[in-house]
Amino acid sequence: MKLKSDKEIQLIRQAGLLLWETHQVAAEMVEAGVTTHDINQAVEEFIQFNKAEPLFKGVPGTVPFPAATCISVNEEIVHGIPSKRQLKNGDIVSLDIGIRLNGWCADAAVTYPVGEIDAEKQKLLQITEECLRKAIELLGENSRWKFIGKKIQKVAEHAGFSVVRELVGHGIGRSLWEKPQVPNYFSEQVSDFRIKPGLVIAIEPMINVGTKEIETLSDHWTIVTRDRKPSAHFEHTIAMTKSGPMVLTCGPNGEGWAMGNGKKG
Ligand code: CO
Repeated sequence: MKLKSDKEIQLIRQAGLLLWETHQVAAEMVEAGVTTHDINQAVEEFIQFNKAEPLFKGVPGTVPFPAATCISVNEEIVHGIPSKRQLKNGDIVSLDIGIRLNGWCADAAVTYPVGEIDAEKQKLLQITEECLRKAIELLGENSRWKFIGKKIQKVAEHAGFSVVRELVGHGIGRSLWEKPQVPNYFSEQVSDFRIKPGLVIAIEPMINVGTKEIETLSDHWTIVTRDRKPSAHFEHTIAMTKSGPMVLTCGPNGEGWAMGNGKKG
């Protein structure tokens, strides 16, 4: 695991700021009737216009991932492929985007309601965002990740929800996926790491209303809950510094999901 200098963290922040702006372009389009393809199209054009590189497009798999944005609706947890599917009133939609700017990567995800959503989905969004907010806060108060993973799990399970095990957060820097793995739960079997200045990680709780078990659809990418109940996903790229945790994918004035300042991105 490579620790980053203050200067490198500033460069990741520049990528993170552009990523936040990219998320605003997408957020403005979220409404009933829009297709997930159209949202991704706008995201790709914005990234290209700003001379950044979309990191999810072309990720190798049985088939390479075909888009810059992972768009996952309702029971889809992550890695949904943009398509002609239209968003409907009552859906929740997760938008996950990774970019590289001037050699440095940033990764962030948010789940939005489409129109009016039911109480269960409202609670799911609120709790998942709370899991991320708590994790950011606790980075400044803990020397090891395992205590934070444990807390995320507790917040989710206390609400009656479950934490996805197979998918975890990650270190980030020149590459999108670096060491360490950043699980959203606690187990003695999972590797732990020390939290110290220079650590840069993407924290990304994925929380399910029902079972924690997952399945991959026949498109080779879309990961869904096995019981097809809804799932939500919030993610920021965060640096630990000498003066505490610093979110690198929020807005210029600290706006954004899970920021604990009352403003929602
Ligand atoms: Co990520």
